[in-house]
Amino acid sequence: MAVPAEIAARVVDPRTYADGSIFESYRWFRQNDPFALIESQDFDPFRVVTRHADIMEVGRRNDVFHNGLRPVLNTKVGERKMRELTGGGPMVKSLIQMDDEEHRKYRGLTSAWFQPNNVKRMEADIRAMARAAVDRMAACGETCDFVNEVSLHYPLRVIMSILGVPEEDEALMLKLTQEIFGSTDPDLNKSGYNSLDLKDEEQKVDVSTILSLMGYFQELTKRKRANPSDDLASVIANAQVDGAPIPDLEMMGYYIITATAGHDTTSSSTAGAMWALAENPAEFRKLKDDPSLMGTMIDEAIRYTSPVKHFMRTAMQDTQVGDQKLSEGEWLMLCFASGNRDETVFEDPDAFRVDRKPNRHVAFGYGAHLCLGQYLGKMEMRILFEELIPRLESVEIDGDAAMSQALFVNGPKRLPIRYKLR
Ligand code: HEM
Repeated sequence: MAVPAEIAARVVDPRTYADGSIFESYRWFRQNDPFALIESQDFDPFRVVTRHADIMEVGRRNDVFHNGLRPVLNTKVGERKMRELTGGGPMVKSLIQMDDEEHRKYRGLTSAWFQPNNVKRMEADIRAMARAAVDRMAACGETCDFVNEVSLHYPLRVIMSILGVPEEDEALMLKLTQEIFGSTDPDLNKSGYNSLDLKDEEQKVDVSTILSLMGYFQELTKRKRANPSDDLASVIANAQVDGAPIPDLEMMGYYIITATAGHDTTSSSTAGAMWALAENPAEFRKLKDDPSLMGTMIDEAIRYTSPVKHFMRTAMQDTQVGDQKLSEGEWLMLCFASGNRDETVFEDPDAFRVDRKPNRHVAFGYGAHLCLGQYLGKMEMRILFEELIPRLESVEIDGDAAMSQALFVNGPKRLPIRYKLR
């Protein structure tokens, strides 16, 4: 079936991820063309994978569907610039760019560190950070921008302490990660230009941001080799693969993926939870009356917000998923946020229900690349809301809340609320 132009255009227009109209396109795709081909002059052709079951199948078959060098949607110009700069390879190489044996080896270096029993030992420290975040909100009085005051800083503080980055360097880290993830939002990118004009690619591939991060982490590696502790940066800095220290490209990739993937995603889900609670007083009340719903509320907020909108996969051979035939080389966009609104899996998928159970969302992806930080991210959120909800008497939206404009990771960028906090 031919895809109506307006439905297709939204997929590559960051504004639709902010105003929510992308969800109308997702619905159309799920019902009419769940592997629709998107052709646009600025991007190589790709297919949108929009049904829950198909996203899971593609994710699970990682031997056939590779992440490789193209794990995120990038414009043709952006890809060319990157190739010119690096001679064909990536600038940094993280788990996201690896497949098969290499991916297993590198993921194995930190997978034990990310297991629930290990991250749990940080609970007391994280709780202290959560209390500080709630106190900061209380100090604001009865109104604040929840993003600016709480959800941006708290997950950053957690991830930076895990990486062993001192508090005074956090502002720099925040700036750098925001520039990488928010690069299509005029409020969040470096120069403030509106990069919706895709011809303005010179500025969009922001190499200096990546170089700044690399410089920072090279220094950190030196320190963690000289004085190792039990933090994640020490594990990475002293890791070995096949009996040798890991090369610079992969080492930088590890730090950068942890610093960026671990921060913006959790910030967005945390703010998404607060937005949904403020808009749904009955759900807020349910949670207050029954704190045992905290775990299901967190999962629901992550499903509902789905901050990671996509990852890409490339078919390594001719194959088939359900009825859909796919040729070698086809590029697929796994639309996690669409899978999480699939009406064949979730009852009333556009509703936020704090007691939704089961909740088999794919916001953390699926298969070999399943989010490494999922337990940590959920624990951070749980602890914050355990500290916040008993003290929070009421909350409502108080002004012009807004989502960021980004095709890859997006979430609330502004969330003015009015509240009573004990
Ligand atoms: C991978 C989502 C929090 C570290 C991913 C993927 C998604 C995701 C969708 C890709 C899965 C795929 O391609 O199939 C989220 C969400 C989070 C979150 C929604 C918060 C609510 C975190 C945290 C950390 C983290 C806190 C670390 C501190 C990673 C890493 C990968 C990853 C290292 C790459 C795994 C691999 O390729 O093997 N995440 N994430 N994430 N995430 Fe998260």
